[in-house]
Amino acid sequence: MGRTAVVTGASQGIGRATAVRLSRDPSIANLVLVARSADGLDATAAACATGIVAVHQLPYDLGDLDGIPALVAGIHERHGSIDVLLNIAGYAEPRSLLDTSAQNLVTTFTVNVFAMLVLTREVVRHMQGRPIKIVNIASTAGITSRPGWVAYAASKAAVVSLSQTLSEELAGTGVRIYTISPGRTATELRRKLAPEEDPNTIMQPDAVADVIAMLVGEGERTLDGQNIIVRQQI
Ligand SMILES: NC(=O)c1ccc[n+]([C@@H]2O[C@H](COP(=O)([O-])OP(=O)(O)OC[C@H]3O[C@@H](n4cnc5c(N)ncnc54)[C@H](OP(=O)(O)O)[C@@H]3O)[C@@H](O)[C@H]2O)c1
Repeated sequence: MGRTAVVTGASQGIGRATAVRLSRDPSIANLVLVARSADGLDATAAACATGIVAVHQLPYDLGDLDGIPALVAGIHERHGSIDVLLNIAGYAEPRSLLDTSAQNLVTTFTVNVFAMLVLTREVVRHMQGRPIKIVNIASTAGITSRPGWVAYAASKAAVVSLSQTLSEELAGTGVRIYTISPGRTATELRRKLAPEEDPNTIMQPDAVADVIAMLVGEGERTLDGQNIIVRQQI
């Protein structure tokens, strides 16, 4: 039976590249794309391979934590068990300490950390005896210092921590959790963090998508629990 995969942050960047890559994976039957921008999700769906998977667009603001249980329950009703959860959505508003507002902290941690945790909780709550793979996107910013990006960097460190904790907590249940920490990748988020940088000189989203697709593969059974750093010299 084909697997159902949910991709957050699927309206652009790494999430879009991953959705397009997974649309060519014959083990995936349903691809559920989540982000706020309906236009972005349309463009991603249009770029996906046709004929192999069914692509479903689900516009949703992950800042609304209370709505996530119903979101996940709805996916289960329509498409059955969720076999793959790719927590790719991310928010960055780089600010130095004295310019970091409470709202910046709340939004950053809500999208990057709390939504990931609540989604994971609900997917695990609904699991029906089938193995589940979860990939959480952290960042190299979560493991080495980034002066001027304190909220974002701290949120990514939290992603590394929560992934390791849940990987051990859920060991033996059929849930495999991977963390990947990409380095600089040519997306809109990176443009915000480093506006002067030429995007042609850094890693492209396809390279990260290829690693995610490898981890999601049914044969991959050894790398879960790890924080995998993904970098490319151009
Ligand atoms: N680019 C890099 O250099 C880099 C390096 C390391 C890690 N990362 C991580 O990689 C992940 C993907 O980022 P990206 O580089 O591909 O950036 P991006 O192109 O800006 O994409 C970010 C995605 O997150 C979604 N998102 C943001 N806020 C959301 C919300 N409230 N609700 C639902 N979706 C939301 C956006 O969709 P909508 O705006 O349509 O909602 C978009 O699809 C992030 O977790 C980022 O931290 C990126």
